[in-house]
Amino acid sequence: MNMAHNRRTFIAGGAATGASVLALSPLLATIGASSAATAATGGFDFDTPYNRIGTGCVKWDGAIAAEHMSHIVAGMGIADMDFKCAPAIMAALRKRMEHENWGYNSIDIDLILGTGANNPFVKGIIDWNAKRYGINVITPKNLGVTTGVHSGIMATLRAYAPEGSKVLMTTPIYNGFYFDLYSGRLQANESLMKFVNGRYEIDFDDVDKRMSDPATKTMILCNPHNPTGRCWTKAELTRLGEMALKHKVVVLSDEIHCDFVSKGQKYVPFSTLDDKAVVANSITFKSGSKSFSLAGMKCAWFFTTNPEMYKKVAFYNHADLSTLGQIAEEAAYAGGESWLNQCVNYIDGNQQFANDYIKSKIPLIKVGNKPESTYLAWLDVSPLMAKIGAQKMADEANKHPTGTNFMTGKPAMTTPSEMVSHWVAKNASVQISAGSSFGKGGENYMRMNLATNRKTLTAALDSIAAACKTLGA
Ligand SMILES: Cc1ncc(COP(=O)(O)O)c(C=O)c1O
Repeated sequence: MNMAHNRRTFIAGGAATGASVLALSPLLATIGASSAATAATGGFDFDTPYNRIGTGCVKWDGAIAAEHMSHIVAGMGIADMDFKCAPAIMAALRKRMEHENWGYNSIDIDLILGTGANNPFVKGIIDWNAKRYGINVITPKNLGVTTGVHSGIMATLRAYAPEGSKVLMTTPIYNGFYFDLYSGRLQANESLMKFVNGRYEIDFDDVDKRMSDPATKTMILCNPHNPTGRCWTKAELTRLGEMALKHKVVVLSDEIHCDFVSKGQKYVPFSTLDDKAVVANSITFKSGSKSFSLAGMKCAWFFTTNPEMYKKVAFYNHADLSTLGQIAEEAAYAGGESWLNQCVNYIDGNQQFANDYIKSKIPLIKVGNKPESTYLAWLDVSPLMAKIGAQKMADEANKHPTGTNFMTGKPAMTTPSEMVSHWVAKNASVQISAGSSFGKGGENYMRMNLATNRKTLTAALDSIAAACKTLGA
């Protein structure tokens, strides 16, 4: 099967009659039938490619637009998955669709008034977290809802990080946090991690020093860590938590990637650490959005064992939850676990496959150990950068910057890793994210999203390997 997708031919099928792209796609129709069949036998189909082009998704349509691609093998940037979602979620959404009214729902008010105890969404979150991760501290009184993890983080930063203060992060780290900081007029206090024996480690001496800066009031912890795939151990989290407590730095623990844990690894929720004072100095943000690929549904939540902190964050939090998002998450927790387990297993296979493939067939890209978590691969592209002269290309582009950096309002400067990203899009028809946006330590890296079917993943790696071969490597 030719894995390359052509945007024009796909969209033309729907656009010709003005009907929806989805309704007219024969590919989608056959895939629908095959997954229903596998679901009925207890298995779920992660192998059959599911064409998302023409649906307005960032991962494919955004890549095509940003890189001006007329042909794409794979969009492997933004962190969502290419799979059809769990059948339990679709069933619940279909049922809710039968009720033809979409007025405000009551969940935020229920939680604020403390009357959410019997709400099945609230119960679902509490039971799921207790059963799956051993988190036993969530109650209807310390749980808050948000449209996304970002909005919860921003509300917390408004409560605890005065304008101009510093936010500690161990870098390289998820690029979205930099936008949160920017909108709060905050500075990043970046503690560069060390790369030791094929994996990243926190530089605790550096963290201690940075936390002792009185301008540092908060820390964003990414647990597990995007983009490096580290799954922090209890000992590491305890040490970090004790340091934060000592320096009065509030810990914002973003645990959105908690389900994608590789074989042999264990996700340790910050809220399960032994020291109650350490836990009470933190707030945790979670969502089913990564686990069940529901990012566009806009539903996330947070909790803290510290009542004072809950009150302060709730003050700044404007929940604005989407009804469909709430229905989808509730259904995921109630009936999506076997789908998720199979998905996690499939991703684990993708991680192993990509790690082995790159090590053996793409000498211009280097990888460390197989990531311990997430569905992301973190690629050291310094040999490829040198080979294509990415620094020179960036210097050339920066002589005449064309765009504006929307965060700073200044001319947008191009980085060498962005040049690699453009080179890969042009020469391999694959879109991957430039590491330079992931802060200090990301300059020579790219992040590749592996949450797709194995055929697309193989086609993407083959295409990158072939493009690199043309460089004589
Ligand atoms: C670590 C991390 N936090 C937050 C988000 C975004 O969360 P949301 O869409 O719920 O705001 C992402 C998305 O990639 C992420 O990787």
